[in-house]
Amino acid sequence: MAARIRKAVFPVAGLGTRFLPATKTVPKEMLPIIDRPLIQYAVDEAIEAGCDTLVFITNRYKHAVADYFDKAYELEHKLERSGKLEQLELVRNVLPPGVRAVFVTQAEALGLGHAVLCAKEVIGNEPFAVLLPDDVIWNRGPGALKQMADAAQATGASVIAVQDVPKEQTGSYGIVATQNFDARQGRITAIVEKPKPEVAPSNLAVVGRYVLNPGIFELLENTTPGAGGEIQLTDAIATLLQRETVNAYRFQGTRFDCGTHIGLIEATIRYALDHEKLSDSARQLMQNALAELGVEDLE
Ligand code: G1P
Repeated sequence: MAARIRKAVFPVAGLGTRFLPATKTVPKEMLPIIDRPLIQYAVDEAIEAGCDTLVFITNRYKHAVADYFDKAYELEHKLERSGKLEQLELVRNVLPPGVRAVFVTQAEALGLGHAVLCAKEVIGNEPFAVLLPDDVIWNRGPGALKQMADAAQATGASVIAVQDVPKEQTGSYGIVATQNFDARQGRITAIVEKPKPEVAPSNLAVVGRYVLNPGIFELLENTTPGAGGEIQLTDAIATLLQRETVNAYRFQGTRFDCGTHIGLIEATIRYALDHEKLSDSARQLMQNALAELGVEDLE
């Protein structure tokens, strides 16, 4: 039985150009699905998996993320005085008691691998999680990271989330080759960043959830720029798996790529349809919208 993960890294230094002009002033991690920013979904998943130290790799322009996790004394006081206790609870639980946030500045945008390396001093010598907040994973049961943390604890190996994608999309993902895949898990034998379909080793794509052993840091320090001229986490993992077991984990849940317009729309629809209070009206208005557009199409 290996150590339980306690620390989670959130790379949030990206520019979010796909969502301009909104991301001119609002970091993409702060875009909401209903009433919670994307980063909150990832944070909640990490806390559920047992993490109590959240490490945000940010850049000097992204004050909004740090402000969001800071205590809002004045707001809390106002909500308390006006008896809005439900809202007060929501604001306080952005970071539940016992969970701390650490902010590390990534001075230059040198890639995902470099962003993870920036967390080295805070992580130290223990297994840790990496969550990419663009990937929102919806599940009615345990969250994806909790499933992976349990698997990692049982074997002591690093674990990377994967899902099947259509072959023509391999160029958008890290792609793995595996062996001995049982229902959920298999050993990774190769990993390549964004291969063209004709050279992709499979159509099993890396999704933004990783449980990594700390040996990855030394490898990241020696990783040279790869795909897109960036220091890739995938390249360091490719070396790690030559030294120790790294497993791919086909998690239970649906992943939405909220780094794209359609992914964010899809996630919003899913959370609305599954929402305690909004479900009925969301269903109704979607039917109405489809019916109205359908009628116009016929005209
Ligand atoms: C990153 C990783 C890639 C992974 C993807 C998942 O790419 O480099 O291996 O498949 O996240 O979302 P990005 O989408 O940041 O270019």
